[in-house]
Amino acid sequence: MTEARVSVMDRGFIFGDGVYEVIPSYGGYFLRLEQHLDRLDASLAAIRLDNPLARDEWRSVLRRLVGAPPAPDQSVYLQVTRGAPASRDHLCPADVAPTVFACASPIKPRRPEIATEGVACITRPDIRWLHCEIKSTSLIAAVMMRREAEDASALETIMHRDGVVTEGAVSNVLMVASNTIMTPPNSHLLLPGITRELTLLLAEEHGIRYLEEPVPLETLRNADEIWLSSSTREVLPVTRLDGAPVGDGRPGPLWQHMDRLYQAHKE
Ligand code: PDD
Repeated sequence: MTEARVSVMDRGFIFGDGVYEVIPSYGGYFLRLEQHLDRLDASLAAIRLDNPLARDEWRSVLRRLVGAPPAPDQSVYLQVTRGAPASRDHLCPADVAPTVFACASPIKPRRPEIATEGVACITRPDIRWLHCEIKSTSLIAAVMMRREAEDASALETIMHRDGVVTEGAVSNVLMVASNTIMTPPNSHLLLPGITRELTLLLAEEHGIRYLEEPVPLETLRNADEIWLSSSTREVLPVTRLDGAPVGDGRPGPLWQHMDRLYQAHKE
């Protein structure tokens, strides 16, 4: 993979002018593949870039990447950038072909302590732009937030705008109060996470109540449970927020229920 070459003039490198997806594969079964490819289409449309591959071509690239027979749990990273024109100009000439890059890497198995102890998060103001629904390769804010979390011995930074929760630096946020899941509604302020959507779908199928409503930071602090969701980390229980325990400080019963539903759905 380190042998692959890309021009130094590539607009992904120079401007972060590209979009990406991360798609999990479990023994060759791509979870929510069509939804990921739909979101890729939406991200490309938002930055006005034509999808260089047809849906079938994407499917066969992805299948090739996970190998035959497919290796166990892997995530495929794919990105499309606006390509490599001859010179640096914010305005891209029309005849430049997009650059496509994709690779597969193993998904790290979840550490067993996560199910018994959960993970820690910190909160910070959301310093990003106002098109967070686009899965853009410009990820400097996420990189900074991830660093801040690490420095506070936390796994993730949960962001808010003026005291209203948006999402994690690299995940969506859900919470539980009165046996009801609450999560911020999709908007330009957050990525429409595929795992978030699947979690709500599983909740619906299994009669668990949920609300897609703005979540004030204070409501989050008083939640019985907080969850993070992402394609590579699935649904994780948050048990410490800014150093204070969430609920009774242990992964909650609704998370355990959801995790069982999620694991069963993957198979
Ligand atoms: N990130 N919000 C943000 C800002 C994200 O970067 C991600 C995922 C999510 C969760 O989306 P999904 O459930 O579709 O993975 C929400 C990926 C995994 C990454 O950047 O590696």
